[in-house]
Amino acid sequence: MTVPVVVSGLTGRMAGLVRQAVLGAPDLDLAARLSLRPGAGGGPGEGGAGDVGAPVVGRLADVKDAAPVVVDFTAEEATADLLDQARSVPCALVIGTSGLGDRHHRLLAEVGRQRSVVVAANFSLALLAVTRFVRDLAALTDEGWDAGVTDLHFVGKRDRPSGTARHLAAAWQGARAPGAPAPDIASFRLGDAVSEHRLVAAGSGEHVEVLHRVADRRAFLPGVLRAIRYAAAAGPGVRTLEDVVHGHVAVP
Ligand SMILES: NC(=O)c1ccc[n+]([C@@H]2O[C@H](COP(=O)([O-])OP(=O)(O)OC[C@H]3O[C@@H](n4cnc5c(N)ncnc54)[C@H](OP(=O)(O)O)[C@@H]3O)[C@@H](O)[C@H]2O)c1
Repeated sequence: MTVPVVVSGLTGRMAGLVRQAVLGAPDLDLAARLSLRPGAGGGPGEGGAGDVGAPVVGRLADVKDAAPVVVDFTAEEATADLLDQARSVPCALVIGTSGLGDRHHRLLAEVGRQRSVVVAANFSLALLAVTRFVRDLAALTDEGWDAGVTDLHFVGKRDRPSGTARHLAAAWQGARAPGAPAPDIASFRLGDAVSEHRLVAAGSGEHVEVLHRVADRRAFLPGVLRAIRYAAAAGPGVRTLEDVVHGHVAVP
């Protein structure tokens, strides 16, 4: 049996890549494309050749398949709308949209009591290894060490600093002694760089730099596919990509 997947966003870069990845996965089925823009929905709509056959719907309630996994890489307002709709429509959710605020986190907590939700500011599996290293470094170095984070993204990226920069800073701070300051974050929006994050940590006589660079958004797809399979199999709760990779739910 295949897992029905709904991808939110029609023309988005990540939405298009996720649709192609779903179409290429034999255990997943592209059930619909969701456009939460006012007035959208109700037909075959636009899309790449491989999308033919997946209807465009304007509301989650209009998806024909039961309990789909909805993948959301869109914008803050569309994600809030999706979470709101997910309260009354059985589904699972994979949320990758950046820049989520308090309202989203309240909605996520509420929806997570009924639905399986995976949310990650960065779906790169390699970044998980980077995060672990940062925690180790923060835990092993003495109180003379400090860290800073830079994030570089394309002109027009809406959130600043990026969710990943905040995630790396939190990973460092969380592994330091209680009360340790959060690393400073410097954000740059230049050119068409997809994503680059650097954490620099320094103590007396030595320093360490960790760099994670994404040149192609396809780098996020293995993590997104794992999250879709996990979300489909898991019970209610809000999980991170780390939970997906280390979780106890059996996924194919
Ligand atoms: N977590 C991760 O690993 C990860 C990786 C890459 C990107 N992201 C994040 O994912 C999001 C999308 O990135 P992208 O590069 O794909 O962006 P993009 O190419 O600009 O696409 C944005 C998508 O959001 C939809 N959208 C925007 N405003 C909307 C609104 N008001 N109502 C309904 N839909 C709306 C657009 O819908 P239409 O198609 O109808 O125009 C489009 O599909 C961003 O927040 C980005 O930072 C996260």
